[in-house]
Amino acid sequence: MCGGQVEEFLDLGPQPISQAFRTPEDTTQEFFYHLRTGMCTTCTLVQLVEEVPRHMMFREDYPFASSGSRYMTDYFAEVAGELVASTIPDPFIVEIGSNDGVMLRCLEQAGIRHLGFEPSTGVAKVAQDEGVRVLTEFFEETSARVVAATEGQADVIYAANTICHIPYLDSVFRGLDALLAPHGVFMFEDPYLGDVIDKTAFDQIYDEHFYLFSARSVSEIARRFGFELVDVRHRPVHGGEVRYTLARTGTREPSDAVHALIAEEQKTTLATLTGFADKTAAIRDALVAELSELRRQGKTVVGYGATAKSATLLNYCRIGPDLVPYICDSTVTKQGLVTPGTRIPIRPPAAFTDPYPDYALLLAWNHAEEIRVKELDFRRQGGRWLTYVPDVHTV
Ligand code: SAH
Ligand code: TYD
Repeated sequence: MCGGQVEEFLDLGPQPISQAFRTPEDTTQEFFYHLRTGMCTTCTLVQLVEEVPRHMMFREDYPFASSGSRYMTDYFAEVAGELVASTIPDPFIVEIGSNDGVMLRCLEQAGIRHLGFEPSTGVAKVAQDEGVRVLTEFFEETSARVVAATEGQADVIYAANTICHIPYLDSVFRGLDALLAPHGVFMFEDPYLGDVIDKTAFDQIYDEHFYLFSARSVSEIARRFGFELVDVRHRPVHGGEVRYTLARTGTREPSDAVHALIAEEQKTTLATLTGFADKTAAIRDALVAELSELRRQGKTVVGYGATAKSATLLNYCRIGPDLVPYICDSTVTKQGLVTPGTRIPIRPPAAFTDPYPDYALLLAWNHAEEIRVKELDFRRQGGRWLTYVPDVHTV
């Protein structure tokens, strides 16, 4: 974003598109790219070295549906209330990456003027069918200008788990400049670099997660486009995120939280990230050793949650059906398919209980609380959760 030099610190090898689940019969050549991560030595932005074309990821059959988690559905209802409370009466609220309408449906029900940008037409249609207003386009300069001209400027623009998916942030910021009202705010939340490092959550790195933001890098990017980072708030979702609030430069006073977080981030250097890469390799070795030992002992192991992030873990560790025979997932459209690159079959949650395995590899570790409550009987029957975040251990 600043034209600086990107210093590579982690190589996660050849990777398929993280959510390119396919039928078991499909043995055609898969697309692979080289997943490497670097940090800009000037603006400190952490980013992928190679970019996957967006149309290969965000398509009609994009399988991730935000409403698949009860906890996240409740969370986004809360967010909707917070957005309304943060702005003027009778606002126009825009969301970038509105997916199946998990947040916007709350605004729609409250009679608030809203619009979502969502290029993955399958999930967009789920929202549209519920009466949510969605434009099935990528948010970028051109689409934002069209909306500004036809619908007027927005008082709040919000995005969750989407801005980190967009390499072309220059176009996004020019779009924000066109679409955001003079005193409006842009709020977005994404996995936080600090949490990813603290938890060695290397599986947060995959094709869609092009950037890993910090307050420092976000404030640098914003500054280049006439915006300022005015607030930060840690959010306890998806393993630790930060919600960044941006306003046009000079319109709001940055909070103490911004200064405090940027000061704290000074400790994160390229050496920290090299250390993160070493820990990543150690986790890979420990997990493969643990799974191999369980197989040797004749224990049954099942994966839980065919997440996008698990593509990184499984392909980097080369874990296939020999170590994890199948993965259970509640997403109907993933069931019956196999995982990208590693070809592990995906089955419905009913397959988990019939019979319970000895061990469950928790791939959706960011939903641990929700899943452990849902699967209490698994524990009661003596089953154990195997997790690799922040290190390999059983619960
Ligand atoms: N906000 C939801 C969805 C996150 S998944 C949540 O937090 O659960 C990311 C979403 O961003 C996907 O639905 C994807 O199709 C969408 N997306 C990717 N690039 C985009 C862009 N340039 N503009 C708008 N949406 C985009
Ligand atoms: P998630 O971790 O939210 O995102 P990503 O795919 O971006 O890494 O994905 C959660 C996956 O786990 C999703 O496929 C649904 C599945 N899941 C279950 O099978 N059961 C559950 O109880 C929950 C919460 C999720």
